[in-house]
Amino acid sequence: MNVLVIGSGGREHALAWKIAQSPLVKKVYGAPGNPGIDLLEKGVCVNVATDDFDLLATYTEIEHIDLVVVGPEDPLAKGIVDELGKRGITVFGPSAAAAQLEASKSFAKDFMERHHIPTAACAVFDDAHLALAYLETTGVPIVIKADGLAAGKGVTVARTMAEAEAAVRAAMLDDAFGEAGARVVIEECLEGEEASILAFCDGKTFKPLATSQDHKPPFDDDKGPNTGGMGAYSPAPVVSDALMERICAEVLAPCVNGMAADGMPYKGILYAGLMITEDGPKVIEFNVRFGDPETQAIMPRMTTDIVPILVACCNGTLASHEVAYSDWPCVSVVMASGGYPGAYEKGKVITGIANAETLDGVTVFMAGVKQQGDDLLTSGGRVLNVTATAPTLTETIEKAYAAVERIHFDGAHYRTDIGRKAFRHLPST
Ligand code: AMP
Ligand code: GLY
Repeated sequence: MNVLVIGSGGREHALAWKIAQSPLVKKVYGAPGNPGIDLLEKGVCVNVATDDFDLLATYTEIEHIDLVVVGPEDPLAKGIVDELGKRGITVFGPSAAAAQLEASKSFAKDFMERHHIPTAACAVFDDAHLALAYLETTGVPIVIKADGLAAGKGVTVARTMAEAEAAVRAAMLDDAFGEAGARVVIEECLEGEEASILAFCDGKTFKPLATSQDHKPPFDDDKGPNTGGMGAYSPAPVVSDALMERICAEVLAPCVNGMAADGMPYKGILYAGLMITEDGPKVIEFNVRFGDPETQAIMPRMTTDIVPILVACCNGTLASHEVAYSDWPCVSVVMASGGYPGAYEKGKVITGIANAETLDGVTVFMAGVKQQGDDLLTSGGRVLNVTATAPTLTETIEKAYAAVERIHFDGAHYRTDIGRKAFRHLPST
């Protein structure tokens, strides 16, 4: 089989890396991919944009691609699955209609209300003055969200009224997120610990992946504004087996059943971003794709060949598959460009990746990286996902940071506490 992965980040490198391990797979293509995918033995990158559906379809036919796996949300929201599907191409991911679960927060909120899926209470506004007046009645803390896609940055958890008002003004009056911010969702602030629960779905059934936890703010102890994610680990022991059962019964099953009942059968990855509150799991958001950087921490633990599972999601036969994981934890540390998520410089030379990968159990997934001659240069905010697995969490964290120490680029920034929250839930040794 030939498989095409759409996207160019660390998530796509991790997916391509896992797909390439399948004995069924001859070649893994990346569109546009990145140097990490290109460097895989079976890897080939092609410079086609993720939203050029005509060119992607043509390329898919020319290269005899059997399966397309979509990484990012944008092409899903724009209908890549529908468009390529019309031409008979097998694409892993939800339709544009189903992708609204992520692309429109107000759609997701209505859906959760209709199907009794636990989530934060909220109100939706198209008018800035009404939104500001509403804030007077809620007080703080309160959460302000741009309705549309804003690369994980359209959310403000406001602890003061000034912050809350500034967030509404930025989205609705100053167009900080363009069209995505014309409508704003104002939401009850949930307290607790977060977890990411991803599930393979085939329209009728679902199979959860291993649990994981992201780290959204850029600084240790969750300080600073939200980013796309600064690191992840799997499993997330905040999700006990009993809690996982509740999540399946209260969130995943009603979501998959509800989407089918509403005429939008859900295929692909359903990602529930959860807050584990005192009252149980509540949905912060749904995403319609693999998490980034969660995928980088999950793929190294998956012992099952992922390719038959991806195909089963597309053709509705997931129920007859099992997905297994190694007991060893996995930790993935994001090395970012200095200044991210604000302005940052690009084009810094990256050294030490090969040296880091000589450490047993270490894999470096590339995200914002470009190849220039023999050099690898930084080309984005999140540059690398330095990933390690080992028998215990302590060893895994040590190994991930030992690998980070071996890698250099000017201005590199990373959190030093990725994975540490898990110890709150593990017996002390
Ligand atoms: P989202 O893009 O909706 O996932 O939100 C980004 C981040 O903002 C989440 O990962 C949470 O850390 C935080 N957040 C979003 N909604 C809430 C909420 N209702 N209560 C508390 N924190 C939230
Ligand atoms: N890790 C957050 C996301 O993928 O949206």
